[in-house]
Amino acid sequence: MAKRLEDLAPQGLLERVQRAAALVDGVSRVRVLCHYDPDGTTSAAILARALMRRGKRVHATMSHALDAATVDRVKAEPNELLLVSDMGSAQLDLLEALPFPAVVLDHHKPLRDSERVVHVNPHLFGVDGAREMCGATTSWVFALALDDANWDLAGVAAAGAIGDKQDVGGFVGVNAALFAEAVDRKVLAPERRLALRDRLLAQALALSISPFFRGIGGRPEAAEAFLRSVGVDPAATLRSLDPAQRRRLASVLAVRLVEQGAAPEALDVLVEDRYWIEPDQMYAQDLEAYVNSCDRLEQMGLGMAVCLGDREALAKAESLLDRYTNRVLEHLRALETEGMFAKKHVQFFYCEEASLAGSVAGAGMQFYFDQSKPVFGLSVMDRQTKVSARGTRTQISQGVDLAAACREAAESLEGDGGGHNIAAGATIPKGKEEKFLGLVDDFVGRQRAASPR
Ligand code: C5P
Ligand code: C5P
Ligand code: ZN
Repeated sequence: MAKRLEDLAPQGLLERVQRAAALVDGVSRVRVLCHYDPDGTTSAAILARALMRRGKRVHATMSHALDAATVDRVKAEPNELLLVSDMGSAQLDLLEALPFPAVVLDHHKPLRDSERVVHVNPHLFGVDGAREMCGATTSWVFALALDDANWDLAGVAAAGAIGDKQDVGGFVGVNAALFAEAVDRKVLAPERRLALRDRLLAQALALSISPFFRGIGGRPEAAEAFLRSVGVDPAATLRSLDPAQRRRLASVLAVRLVEQGAAPEALDVLVEDRYWIEPDQMYAQDLEAYVNSCDRLEQMGLGMAVCLGDREALAKAESLLDRYTNRVLEHLRALETEGMFAKKHVQFFYCEEASLAGSVAGAGMQFYFDQSKPVFGLSVMDRQTKVSARGTRTQISQGVDLAAACREAAESLEGDGGGHNIAAGATIPKGKEEKFLGLVDDFVGRQRAASPR
């Protein structure tokens, strides 16, 4: 029998989404603001679909940050209601000053709650927003409170959670409960298999970012030679291998990841539950890959159109995926030979493409950088420097909290920062990079020392 929402998410969180849903019923047009990455873009698509289904007009924008200028712009428009997703919990002050009601659907750890804004955040109800619920699943729960028909948006929500790497090792907590129910309702179908694209194997290995194979990523000839050396036909595809060959390939790739010094969770990336989305007829992992490349190449509207089922947009996104993949592989390859700069407790690199630094830092940290230190990717821009920080689950269990380190270091330099314990970021004035690195090195050292383990 189908489960009810009450069986799947905490009562307090559901009370908040019900309050938000009641606000929607009183207006004809809804303004939507979401973060620009896959979790934010999928959130925007979920909200747009659910609101249109409810007969509302929607104006959605995705942005890098929810700053005073963005809020001022929204304030100047004739809005009746604002929904913010995958950001907002750190900007309650700005939102509380709006002349119309605002709803926040965020999963970044909040510093406080709000009376004035309908503040929906899993952390407020004992759910870990870095692991058990993302912006897209929080937005989806709101959509489910509006209408049961929105169970068909499970695949878009799964793509958002995959974008925030909450699928690695299997979904847990509220995510797990919601997606299991979507499987029961036949919207999603899980399939356990190797995380490689459906190409000739040599290409699939050379094009793979997650996992990234050191010495092979971005090098088709090396991929071919490696496959031959382990007795696998480089011109075969994953589908053409028999089960024994597939198992053999999985085991040699796992050994390779261990040998190159990958994080333990990297093996959970190699063999994963891929989720087939029945209404969209594609894998949630592929949907995430398309949206991610659109977002990182600054075409968020295209990513949202792909989530809304636009086939023409999908064809365009295909070429962006190739461009994005090649750019990230180039950076990862270069860092293999150039190496990292190291401080006592952190490591860092420079990346001239700010929108790719997070992807490079994330893949590098998971698959081959020094596992003992979190990584900071710095992009020096015209007036500001953008920082992307990434850690591993082991480092988090040792007390590391990159959101706190980024926030405190950036704020003391008149910048801003935040995010999650395992993935965070900052924006600081240009020229303060050395100071910032010194501060985060100190913070991370202190976090480790203060940890009981
Ligand atoms: O703002 P938001 O929460 O959506 O951003 C989280 C970012 O952190 C995403 O870009 C995601 O890929 C990244 N991340 C990561 N490793 C994790 C969790 C999140 O690189 N374990
Ligand atoms: O930009 P990047 O993907 O590295 O961001 C990682 C996380 O850090 C995201 O959750 C983002 O919202 C957060 N962040 C932040 N303040 C910044 C930059 C990033 O809170 N100035
Ligand atoms: Zn998110």
